Amino acid sequence: MYKDSIQARREIARNFTALNYRVDPLHWQTLCMGVNRDLQAKKMRPNVPVPSRRKVIPFLKMMHQETGSMLKAILAFGFDGPWTSSGGSFRLAREIGFDIAHYAKNIHHKNGKVTFLEIGAAWAGFRAEECAGHQATISGLSGEFREQLGESVFLHFTNLTPWHASLPKGVTEHPYVTAAGLGALENRGVQAGEVDIIYSQAAAYFEQDYTAFLRSAARLLKEDGVLIFNHDPVLASAMDEVAWEHGLRLVRRKQMGGMNGAIARYHRLRSSPVSQMVFPGVKRAEDEEVVCESLVMSALRRNVEV
Ligand SMILES: C[S@@+](CC[C@H](N)C(=O)[O-])C[C@H]1O[C@@H](n2cnc3c(N)ncnc32)[C@H](O)[C@@H]1O
Repeated sequence: MYKDSIQARREIARNFTALNYRVDPLHWQTLCMGVNRDLQAKKMRPNVPVPSRRKVIPFLKMMHQETGSMLKAILAFGFDGPWTSSGGSFRLAREIGFDIAHYAKNIHHKNGKVTFLEIGAAWAGFRAEECAGHQATISGLSGEFREQLGESVFLHFTNLTPWHASLPKGVTEHPYVTAAGLGALENRGVQAGEVDIIYSQAAAYFEQDYTAFLRSAARLLKEDGVLIFNHDPVLASAMDEVAWEHGLRLVRRKQMGGMNGAIARYHRLRSSPVSQMVFPGVKRAEDEEVVCESLVMSALRRNVEV
């Protein structure tokens, strides 16, 4: 695990350098912890109910049982903490009323092509025997689009470390890619402005630099593309500001509470400048009315369903 951890840090740092991205030292520390949790989570069964670290003995017992090593259990207790994974499901998208498979089918029908990206998909449903709700995963999508995979359907996902030795054609894992460093995908076959759906469950949540994350997600998204992820609720309004600056409009937010925080759904605005958009009740500049951009922004925000 130590060697894998060093290698992952090196690869992530290399991606950052290629992007000319300077990571804050505190963020880097969190990422290094994330890498260790990632390596550890891979050894655990999906959905393992790990007790809180406050319950020392049950925590150590469970981690020992899952990882097969008391040293790992102690390291998880003292330093890295545990991550459990659903195996990579679309549960939070469903919670917010968004059916990824259905949406992907519609887009494919309409445009003849669909590109999906999940940030931090872990097993992405490919360990079917252990995953609940297998249909609502990347693995499930790959089954539904079997004929079109790699031709007109492209499924991408990231992880901090590699989780898969092999995947079907048209399904690509991008290890060593962080949410803030999503730009790295642009050198790995994902074009800016090409992605229809970006989804992240319990993964972008851990990204400390949400500005870089939202900026690079917005860059990858197609006009009208959808971004769904969960986040710490205290960041909501700051995130909405940054998202708006990068052409992302909040469509819905749902408070989940507990570990799930809040789920947000943003849509990529069309590239037409704000001043050319038509809003009910707001006259445009050529109608000899000066439209204050912040007024337009608040009109848009009031349209948000919460
Ligand atoms: C708790 S698991 C969640 C896995 C899966 N999405 C699920 O719902 O079961 C955390 C995932 O987030 C990824 N991750 C952690 N920190 C990240 C970051 N800063 N940027 C992108 N992915 C991150 C890890 O690689 C891992 O795949």
